[in-house]
Amino acid sequence: MEKLRIPGPTPCPSEVLQVLSKQMINHRGDEFMQILNGVTAKLKQLFQTKNDVFLLTGSGTGGLEAAIVNTLSPGDKVLSVSIGVFGERFAAIAKQFGAEVIPLRFEWGKPADADAVRQALQAEPKIKAVLVTHNETSTGVTNDLASISSAVKELDKLLLVDAISSLGSINLPVDDWHCDVAITGSQKGWMAPPGLAMVSVSQKAWQAHENAKMPRFYWDFAKAKSYLEKGQTPWTPAVSTVFALSVSLEMMLNEGLPNIVARHSRVGKATREGIKSLGLSLFAQESHASNTVTAIKSSNGLDVKKMLQILREEHQVILAGGQQDLSGKIFRIGHLGWVTEDDIKAVISVLKIVLPQAGFGNAS
Ligand SMILES: Cc1ncc(COP(=O)(O)O)c(C=O)c1O
Repeated sequence: MEKLRIPGPTPCPSEVLQVLSKQMINHRGDEFMQILNGVTAKLKQLFQTKNDVFLLTGSGTGGLEAAIVNTLSPGDKVLSVSIGVFGERFAAIAKQFGAEVIPLRFEWGKPADADAVRQALQAEPKIKAVLVTHNETSTGVTNDLASISSAVKELDKLLLVDAISSLGSINLPVDDWHCDVAITGSQKGWMAPPGLAMVSVSQKAWQAHENAKMPRFYWDFAKAKSYLEKGQTPWTPAVSTVFALSVSLEMMLNEGLPNIVARHSRVGKATREGIKSLGLSLFAQESHASNTVTAIKSSNGLDVKKMLQILREEHQVILAGGQQDLSGKIFRIGHLGWVTEDDIKAVISVLKIVLPQAGFGNAS
């Protein structure tokens, strides 16, 4: 069996796989209503929120688009706090829908600086919302969201958070950190297949929704809310993924959120130590290295493409390469969801064999 160690989709436990073969049910019937209500209640616990939480059928990017079109109007000024590929994507969506995006970029591999966020907001009082990525999957960096949130809330702005690869794995108390919209995706730490974006919506986000003029139909939070009151979704949902999520959320609540967060922290540490023991170095600034994905610099003659190929073909271990400008320069190990320290030890052992075969150590 392949060992899928990319930062999503992540492997599903057998309990989850089993329900994926269940027959379809009426998505407007009582059985689905009970499942949807149960999933929503469990998600609220794991998001640590009393806000509304919706299941949107689509990938995480759909959830990012939903956050923007439900809270903003064309011409609104938005501060984009970006530390990598996904920060840029969030900004690109806002721009596409007519927001005036003010970029605040940090060097890839580094976290955002909360003081710089505060200064940018003070410099432009008309900014309405701040876009921020909690965990930047492209660089393996976790932002200090609590500090960024303090800066954003001091100046009373809307805080839209891409938490796609952090929620459910890394601590993110949505209410305590005043996230107005937080977005995640079923295929990440949630141990379910792709197909659902899960979003929380605060009172402040609802107030913004009242005046938000960006075009929206499929993603309209008001429709999601009115249908959820009947135990439904406005459009046909990814029923099988909802079945899967229902089981994986039960498993997560049985493990307990603090234990899940602690396990990801141990697994993240084991990955970083294992990588360093091989003579490789981390791409991320270690103080902010992510506990769900580790990005590793290509160095010392390593041919990343060749390494990924040997890992895949000879060892059935699937790791991720770098994205965009980081292609060929880094590789990434996903360690979110259904993963243990032993799984990581296995990856490190295989890397020890494959690295020299892929040129590592041959640099002249
Ligand atoms: C931080 C982050 N944002 C956005 C996305 C995009 O999500 P999706 O591929 O589900 O659209 C991802 C997926 O890797 C991600 O990790």
